[in-house]
Amino acid sequence: MGQGHQRRGRQGGLMALTGNPLHPVFAAELHGIDFSRRLTDAGVTDVLDAMDRYAVCVVHHDRALSDEQHVAVSAQFGPMQRSRVLTVAGVKPRLARGEIIDQSNLDDRGNLYNEGDRRLLYKRANRLWHTDMSFHPVRATYSLLSAHVIPPVAADTEFADLRAAYDALPVAMKARIDPLTVSHSYWYSRTLAGGPPASAEEQASRPPAVHPLVHRHPRSGRMSLYLASHASHILGMPIDEGRALIEELCAFATQPRFVYAHQWRVGDVLIWDNLCTMHRATEFDDTIVRRDVRRTTCREAAVD
Ligand code: OGA
Ligand code: MN
Repeated sequence: MGQGHQRRGRQGGLMALTGNPLHPVFAAELHGIDFSRRLTDAGVTDVLDAMDRYAVCVVHHDRALSDEQHVAVSAQFGPMQRSRVLTVAGVKPRLARGEIIDQSNLDDRGNLYNEGDRRLLYKRANRLWHTDMSFHPVRATYSLLSAHVIPPVAADTEFADLRAAYDALPVAMKARIDPLTVSHSYWYSRTLAGGPPASAEEQASRPPAVHPLVHRHPRSGRMSLYLASHASHILGMPIDEGRALIEELCAFATQPRFVYAHQWRVGDVLIWDNLCTMHRATEFDDTIVRRDVRRTTCREAAVD
């Protein structure tokens, strides 16, 4: 994978994949790869190598991938989340495939939600800085978000590089946080975002999970923070003190020098590494204009 130009690959042949950086510390546009077709093994390796370097990559296509194409390419990047996880009790899905997480503002009939709809209120939690699935013991690795309908108003997705942020922390702060572990709860972030309290059934469907606050990325070897709006408290620390520290680190990591904002075009597929980035949706008038983006998620290990 080259940067702004092609370079010689492992076997000495000219590699097709090039990465065009979008930000000084991370994020790139990939050229010479098409996610609507099955990738070769070398193609998969090239994308993963690009991900180790850039953590967020975008691939443009002339039209939106079909859900089948989206699932097929995602499965090439590791064990996938296959089955639908209950989020809001009693809700009918709009999309048939269980692997696709519907991140649109549309109900099962394709209509905009009304203001005050529980489903919309929960979806707005995407506007908090987070990393996907941190509330699960088996963390998410890559998420692939595919753009089907993009409104004419700004509705960007922002990303923060948690490796660059960790690297830039003062030495004393690194020493303080390196041994800490954090509890992550899905329902914590939903109510933080102004959503209603969850029922007992909903809560039981997604219990909290504990993860290290700092870790070494298993592929790139780079140190990274692991933070999210789901992070409710630090183990062995008074709740308020832990929350204050989490907030301080989130504020540090989301300074403009670590943030890339993606402006969507229909057909874009964005792939991000949940182990070393955070992201958030930005605000737009979601009861007036349609936005249809769909996500698949890869995991550290196979899960049902
Ligand atoms: C997601 C997500 C943000 C957006 O799909 O995981 O957080 O801008 N999306 O839709
Ligand atoms: Mn997300």
